[in-house]
Amino acid sequence: MQRTYFLFVGALALHFIATSSVSIIVANNQNNTVDLNALLAFKAAIFDPQRTIQTNWSTSTSVCNWIGITCNARHHRVAAIDLSYMGIAGTIPPQLGNLSFLVRLNVMNNGFHGHLPAELSRLRRLKYINLEGNNFEGELPSWLGALTALRYLSFRDNGFSGSLSGRLSNFTKLETIRLGFNFFTGNLSEEFSALPKLTVLEIQSNQLAGPLPWALFNLSSLQIFAFANNSLSGYLPAHICNYLPQLKGLYLSWNYFEGEIPSGIGECSGLQVLSLSYNIFRGYIPREIWNLTTLTGLYLGDNDLTGEIPKKAFDNLYNLEILAMESANVTARCIRSVFT
Ligand SMILES: *[C@@H]1O[C@H](CO)[C@@H](O)[C@H](O)[C@H]1NC(C)=O
Ligand SMILES: *[C@@H]1O[C@H](CO)[C@@H](O)[C@H](O)[C@H]1NC(C)=O
Ligand SMILES: *[C@@H]1O[C@H](CO)[C@@H](O)[C@H](O)[C@H]1NC(C)=O
Ligand SMILES: *[C@@H]1O[C@H](CO)[C@@H](O)[C@H](O)[C@H]1NC(C)=O
Ligand SMILES: *[C@@H]1O[C@H](CO)[C@@H](O)[C@H](O)[C@H]1NC(C)=O
Ligand SMILES: *[C@@H]1O[C@H](CO)[C@@H](O)[C@H](O)[C@H]1NC(C)=O
Ligand SMILES: *[C@@H]1O[C@H](CO)[C@@H](O)[C@H](O)[C@H]1NC(C)=O
Ligand SMILES: *[C@@H]1O[C@H](CO)[C@@H](O)[C@H](O)[C@H]1NC(C)=O
Repeated sequence: MQRTYFLFVGALALHFIATSSVSIIVANNQNNTVDLNALLAFKAAIFDPQRTIQTNWSTSTSVCNWIGITCNARHHRVAAIDLSYMGIAGTIPPQLGNLSFLVRLNVMNNGFHGHLPAELSRLRRLKYINLEGNNFEGELPSWLGALTALRYLSFRDNGFSGSLSGRLSNFTKLETIRLGFNFFTGNLSEEFSALPKLTVLEIQSNQLAGPLPWALFNLSSLQIFAFANNSLSGYLPAHICNYLPQLKGLYLSWNYFEGEIPSGIGECSGLQVLSLSYNIFRGYIPREIWNLTTLTGLYLGDNDLTGEIPKKAFDNLYNLEILAMESANVTARCIRSVFT
């Protein structure tokens, strides 16, 4: 009798432990139902030839254990999705906009396609979005301006199109904008004047036209300024680095920029890459260039430039790895001045 009673108490205790842990799991699950449903919708929209997602994203375990998913410690809600380089394809379903704790979304280098659903505008905590190297299409969504936490945006190397004119004006907190290798058109009017945090602005290999707004040369945090391979025109400001003190890379090759290379380029004291080839610059290569000791790459070829490389140039430019001047006039002079 005594022994039976003891066993009964033991069973009761076990029962209590079991139910309380079940109730914790239920609470977690309730919190996570929205996230679970959103990720199940995502799973259903993913084409996954290696079946990694199909087998790993199993409802027998918490979404927090799923491959590519990170939950925040406090609420056990989905905080990050990283499915980069997974060899998967598919679309982004509107349910992803329900992941209200999402901070990072990275699907870089896969085969995703289609338009981005406007429901993503509800991701108010989203700081980082990287869609680079997929086949997404459509215009740069205007609702991106509603993502007030956003700091990093890369839509590089997709099939986005449409005019960029007026589309970037609300990105006031962005630090990185990468839109290169798409089909964006239009000019950039004056919209960049209020992007005080911007360090990387990369819109290479698109179809932008017209002159760059001079306000662009006033973005004092800018380090990478990359517009190579568009149809941009106009002149460079005389004191290009006065208001770009942090500039490390100026990529403007393969456009229609004209006029002289301003001698003020010598004020760009941290410049590492100066890429101005394949434009219609003319005149003398400013001597100040040869004092930019931080330069690692200098591309001036295929313009209408003349000039000499001073004897001391390569003593000064001890970091220089690439010097590209593929233009008969300049090359001849260069060779002469280097070897005499
Ligand atoms: C569920 O969510 C609420 C509010 O977001 C939070 O206070 C609570 O700690 C969460 N519970 C669990 C078990 O994660
Ligand atoms: C899913 O992948 C994660 C990370 O690789 C792993 O920890 C987990 O055990 C996997 N789950 C299943 C059900 O395969
Ligand atoms: C999630 O998103 C879908 C589509 O945007 C919506 O229909 C649904 O009501 C949302 N809410 C929950 C709790 O899943
Ligand atoms: C920018 O924000 C304003 C005010 O919130 C809004 O009216 C406008 O439509 C936004 N523009 C874009 C391009 O998102
Ligand atoms: C820029 O494009 C807009 C819209 O297409 C146009 O109205 C404006 O005149 C253009 N500005 C310049 C400087 O080309
Ligand atoms: C310039 O961009 C076009 C597409 O807009 C691309 O086909 C071409 O290869 C690019 N050229 C260079 C030199 O990057
Ligand atoms: C650039 O900034 C300087 C100093 O703040 C200011 O005087 C100038 O008007 C600005 N130029 C443009 C085009 O915004
Ligand atoms: C380059 O730097 C040297 C040494 O600092 C200086 O004497 C010279 O005037 C400079 N040349 C130019 C063109 O700025």
